[in-house]
Amino acid sequence: MKHDVKDLNLAPGGAQRLAWAENEMPVLRLIRERFEREKPLRGLKIAACLHVTSETANLMRTLAAGGAEVALCASNPLSTQDDVAAALIEHHKIPVFAVRGEDRDTYYQHIVDVLSMKPSITMDDGADLVTVLHNERRDLLEGVVAGTEETTTGVVRLRSMAKDGVLQYPIVAVNDAKTKHWFDNRYGTGQSAMDGLLRATNLLLAGRTLVVGGYGSCGRGVASRARGLGARVLVTEIDPMIALEAVMDGFEVMPMAKAAVLGDVFMVVTGNRDVLRGEHFEVMHDGAVLANAGHFNVEIDIPALEALSTSRRAIKDNVEEFRMATGRRIYLLAEGRLLNLAAAEGHPAAVMDMSFANQALSVEWVARNAPQLKRQVYGVPEEIDRGVAALKLRAMNVAIDDLTPQQAKYLASWEEGT
Ligand code: ADE
Repeated sequence: MKHDVKDLNLAPGGAQRLAWAENEMPVLRLIRERFEREKPLRGLKIAACLHVTSETANLMRTLAAGGAEVALCASNPLSTQDDVAAALIEHHKIPVFAVRGEDRDTYYQHIVDVLSMKPSITMDDGADLVTVLHNERRDLLEGVVAGTEETTTGVVRLRSMAKDGVLQYPIVAVNDAKTKHWFDNRYGTGQSAMDGLLRATNLLLAGRTLVVGGYGSCGRGVASRARGLGARVLVTEIDPMIALEAVMDGFEVMPMAKAAVLGDVFMVVTGNRDVLRGEHFEVMHDGAVLANAGHFNVEIDIPALEALSTSRRAIKDNVEEFRMATGRRIYLLAEGRLLNLAAAEGHPAAVMDMSFANQALSVEWVARNAPQLKRQVYGVPEEIDRGVAALKLRAMNVAIDDLTPQQAKYLASWEEGT
């Protein structure tokens, strides 16, 4: 079996980590048990490009239990847990191509390596695999019946491919399931981005001013957790509706040009490029800390930061100092890559449980329905989404009410008023 990981001797530690995560993933475990019995993925070849974490490893096991052949590469050069990658090979015979800290060329080579399995299904987080397939390995497109996409950024890319008529097969936007983005994006990013910030810097947030760039579902998670730690939270937005929500949630909303002067810590999570750029670096105060929790490392204009600085040096793991010509220092965390995975361990397993339950069930659904589907981006079917919510509640031992027959009738009727 071909693979490329850091060190297979790390496998025992990775296996323990995998088991630790599994304890927190009861919904995925139930799906795996059913997959083991029913083998609904038999005959499928799944090429996955995801963050190589203990949670992803549990998803890979689930797909393999369903009868699929699986291969995995990383969706970010800094997010791989090398011990988990080794454990997948040694304990589960799943080929992995991912090494934490791999350079750009190796990152793309690993995508090509995974594609060499000639997949029938793609599973992506950020749409890099789909892009390589459409640009460099078009010869393989014929064999691909469908795909899934995990994240907001990937879904945005895929929707523009579909709009331009270049997307060659149907893809399910797992991100758009409520049991994904309501929880993973908000509580997952909220907690894990704070985790990354604290592990990298050990800063006290109480009393500090933290600027959140973007108040989408990830941004609102970051803002609420930063507030919980005692920070004064400023929000920047480009969407009036969302900005209004941030105001009514009690945050100060202002343009970045103004926030740049005030912020101690900046956390951008917009999915767009150059959210922090030259004009902002020029007015930041000495010691400002910059971090990105969005998918790609484009939100902070690092070339502009470099151009404005006279020196760049590493201070400690995941912290680099840029000294400006004026003597001011600006600190960049994790090379501007997504902080929660580069400096911490990504979202907690309990929330990935729902995201990856949606992944597993969406693969099953899309493989079965592919012949009827167009070359478009599809939402996760409502029954899958609601089913994941119901299973998660059950696993958490939370019961809810049922409508009485009178209530059901009342909701379905229009005659009754006061
Ligand atoms: N994305 C964010 N957190 C993650 C995790 N723990 N595993 C896989 N993908 C993730």
